[in-house]
Amino acid sequence: MAFPRQAAARVETLRNAILEHQYRYYVLDTPIVSDQEFDALLRELQRLETAYPDLVTTESPTQRVGGEPHDQFDKVFHPVPLLSLGNSFSLDELQNWRARLHRQLAGEALSRLTYVVEPKIDGLSIILHYEDGIFHLGATRGNGEVGENVTANLRTIPQIPLRLPANPQCALPVASRLQVRGEIYVTRQDFEEFNQSQETQGRQIYANPRNFAAGSLRQLNPKISADRPLQLWVFQLIGASSDAGIEPSQQAHLAYLRELGFPVSDHIQRFADERFEDLLAHVENMDQVRQTLPYEMDGLVIKIDSSELQERLGYTGKEPRWATAFKYEGAKSITRLKNIEVFVGRSGTVTPRATLEPVNIGGVMVEHATLHNFDYIQTLDLRIGDAVLVTRAGDVIPRVLKALPELRTGQEQVWSRPEVCPRCNTPLVQSEGEVAFKCTNRSCPGQLIRAVEHFVSRAALDIRSFGSRQAELFVELKMIQRLSDVYALPWNEIEQVKSYGEKRIRQLQDGLGAAKERPPARLLTALGIPFVGAQVAELIVAQFPNLLTLAHATADQLESVDGVGQEIAEAVVGHFAAPSNRHELYRLHLAGLDVGDSQASPAPYVEDSGLQGQVFVITGRLANHTRDQVTEMIKMRGGKVTGSVSSKTDFLLAGEAAGSKLQKARDLGIEVLSEDGFIQMLS
Ligand code: IVH
Repeated sequence: MAFPRQAAARVETLRNAILEHQYRYYVLDTPIVSDQEFDALLRELQRLETAYPDLVTTESPTQRVGGEPHDQFDKVFHPVPLLSLGNSFSLDELQNWRARLHRQLAGEALSRLTYVVEPKIDGLSIILHYEDGIFHLGATRGNGEVGENVTANLRTIPQIPLRLPANPQCALPVASRLQVRGEIYVTRQDFEEFNQSQETQGRQIYANPRNFAAGSLRQLNPKISADRPLQLWVFQLIGASSDAGIEPSQQAHLAYLRELGFPVSDHIQRFADERFEDLLAHVENMDQVRQTLPYEMDGLVIKIDSSELQERLGYTGKEPRWATAFKYEGAKSITRLKNIEVFVGRSGTVTPRATLEPVNIGGVMVEHATLHNFDYIQTLDLRIGDAVLVTRAGDVIPRVLKALPELRTGQEQVWSRPEVCPRCNTPLVQSEGEVAFKCTNRSCPGQLIRAVEHFVSRAALDIRSFGSRQAELFVELKMIQRLSDVYALPWNEIEQVKSYGEKRIRQLQDGLGAAKERPPARLLTALGIPFVGAQVAELIVAQFPNLLTLAHATADQLESVDGVGQEIAEAVVGHFAAPSNRHELYRLHLAGLDVGDSQASPAPYVEDSGLQGQVFVITGRLANHTRDQVTEMIKMRGGKVTGSVSSKTDFLLAGEAAGSKLQKARDLGIEVLSEDGFIQMLS
């Protein structure tokens, strides 16, 4: 539709004015017009846009009211993984963090070590994308790699600049492409008022401000989001194309974001490493300050200022080494310890858990709390029936802080740790220098249940129809005795189990079928190798696109992957060194799971019987494989490996420094293969 030039010009003037007033009101907190004057401008803009719909753009302030509802949120792949943070719960732990940095950063780098300390706001983590200054995409953090597209809802939050710079006085250039990380939160007062009004209307209330922020942003109808009093703080510049020429440090990034008109906290301070004492004093001091803030601040984030040092320190799995979250103690409540239960983890570690008289802690009902390990129970002298002090700090699992012996009645009972695994009765053992006790039975059903739970979990194969209940049941019925049995379930027997009708069986089968499409990194995560979570698995698969090949990688090869250190490399090699684990992977491959592109790297495991009946002897030192690996490759193809050379031997696989066996093979006219020759033969 055509529109008069004056209308377009007026629309532009109005938008500029409205966006500026919103910035002054919501970000600077210093409005220069009355609410009535502001409303008049907005109404005029609305009238013009209604008359000339072609003039409407996504970054118009009228778009803050919320658009059409949708059925579901689209997925958004983040440009870089949105990492989480490691936690420190005491000043001592902060000192340890610093000591680690000192060990990792040598000499000259230490002189440039400076920290930026920021409030840690308790809300929902999001990322905002700007292109040529226009806000065009916003997503939740999700699992760090994939989030949900909540652009329409974010647009309704007046503090989010729809166009950059939001600050009309901004003196710096706007990067042509820019991504910012921040937190959506709600003030305590807004939260309480909302809940009160909900209560009087007999509607749902939220347990705490964080749930409120998350629930409000994830409304499918943006009009509902628009009515919720959500706010924003930003704290990280993710990607800014180099055209803005910003100094590579956290402090400079924050200053730049503030200059552009983003809300950046005023409670941010910088400390040189020599002044770490001052930093610690600041941490203590902020515990008082945070009580006076209008929103929940559950801790501080301490980051290394220099981007270059950040890069040098890198990441471990999902957490940067260059930052830590200091958590203040959360709300505490007193309740009664009813019982201590013991659980077996995936790796056999047994951990005690407190069952409590249900209690409200900071707005959340708590029935269980972690007790860490058996030592902890002894140190606290916890007795069944004791009154206990329990805390819940932010997103951390509730912990029992101490017993209150002054409240004892004499009825309390001393608890002693079990001598055997609660699932399989295998005696528990404690490794030297470790507090944890372990069940060493590799086929312990307790461990298997946890392994299956992990296998089907969201971060792994994400099989929604398959949960803890199924894991328990099928392991209990011995239908699952190893992970790959998840794909070899005896469906006709399951039909006999009372609660499993045709429909539920179909749901399970559909879920299992769909999971075959998951990329190899998810399958690698699902195997439950220590230290190999979703993030690390991605890094590994980027270099080893085929898991069957990965199973033969050496620690050196793995360590050459960015982000994979010695510990991880050894865990992976250790895992696949066990033939049973390699068999598992192979079985999963046969079941149809995606182990990766076989073109990308020739897979040594080919389901064929190319070596059927062939007898091998292996001698000498092999350069690229272990004897176990080679033996496995031969067996997988129907061949056999024996110890000594005889007329029955078909091939001698000879590595370096082969001795008498090589001679004997030559004497008997047996074909001798080098390691390379052997691999060639297989492919
Ligand atoms: S930095 C790699 N800074 O806390 C950098 N995070 O536990 C990671 N958060 O998901 C984040 N305030 O949503 C950072 N000043 C702040 C923060 C902050 C709150 C949240 C953030 C993150 C979580 C990590």
